Amino acid sequence: MTAQILAFCNQKGGVGKSTTTFQLARAAVLAGRRVLIVDNDPQGNITSNAAQDDVPSDQPGLADVLSTRTTDTLRDVIVPGVWPGLDLVPTAGGSLGFVRDELTIAGAGREVRLREALELVLEDYDLVLIDCAPSLDQLTVNGLTAADGVVIVTHTKKWSLDGLSQLLDTIDTVKRYYNRQLRVAGIIVNHHEDRTVGGKEWLEALHAAADLRELTVLTPPIPKRVVIADATEASRGVDEFGSAEGVALGAVYAAHLASIEGALA
Ligand SMILES: Nc1ncnc2c1ncn2[C@@H]1O[C@H](COP(=O)(O)OP(=O)(O)OP(=O)(O)O)[C@@H](O)[C@H]1O
Ligand SMILES: [Mg+2]
Repeated sequence: MTAQILAFCNQKGGVGKSTTTFQLARAAVLAGRRVLIVDNDPQGNITSNAAQDDVPSDQPGLADVLSTRTTDTLRDVIVPGVWPGLDLVPTAGGSLGFVRDELTIAGAGREVRLREALELVLEDYDLVLIDCAPSLDQLTVNGLTAADGVVIVTHTKKWSLDGLSQLLDTIDTVKRYYNRQLRVAGIIVNHHEDRTVGGKEWLEALHAAADLRELTVLTPPIPKRVVIADATEASRGVDEFGSAEGVALGAVYAAHLASIEGALA
């Protein structure tokens, strides 16, 4: 068995990509999966949540694996995550931003660097979750090229359907030139406010747009809840936060994980 690879994407910032990646990693670990999170965002947000120990800014990470200036392999940089069964390819200190610039001007083969790097460790994991930056740059293209499935994370208020079209265009381009097997494993609506009229209307429009493109919007949406932000900030699963609401939300993440894995099976 080799790992299934998922890329969590949306070029819009702050929609909940890192939070969702982290909480789905939690659901996967609870389901007995061996999980690797790849922090593919120069901001390094998920590294600060998912690493067992603090990652100093000069510690080798994804940047050193993707750059041609260093010889580190993925195995050299992996660190333990906050739960047994979770490992992390960290990003800290801004060097991934320089690698993004390096990739922008690099020649042929630049799109496949992450895919090639991951090949070395695929036997060690069941699931690899790539947390992408809010951008459609070469780092995200590397994430999509490495992935079996894309999970699109959206935010009721912050995302236009134009944004969806742009992201789908990028996915189609990657599919056509670099990764024929890439599929959209699902759209997760995060930060949902079901009591507002605007939230409801937007959700209906998203479902219609997704149906047209034969894409699946995972149900139910993940609501806007303080416990999700607080638990993630504290490097905990929502289920570990000592509330019935958190446990119920943990079950929603588990259901989404099962749908995503089912879509790729
Ligand atoms: N369902 C939710 N309920 C409440 N707060 C949330 C929820 N999801 C995410 N947040 C909060 O929203 C903010 C943005 O989330 P997050 O960092 O996961 O987004 P992102 O898409 O990864 O951002 P970026 O594009 O900068 O990488 C964070 O402060 C997070 O705690
Ligand atoms: Mg993020």
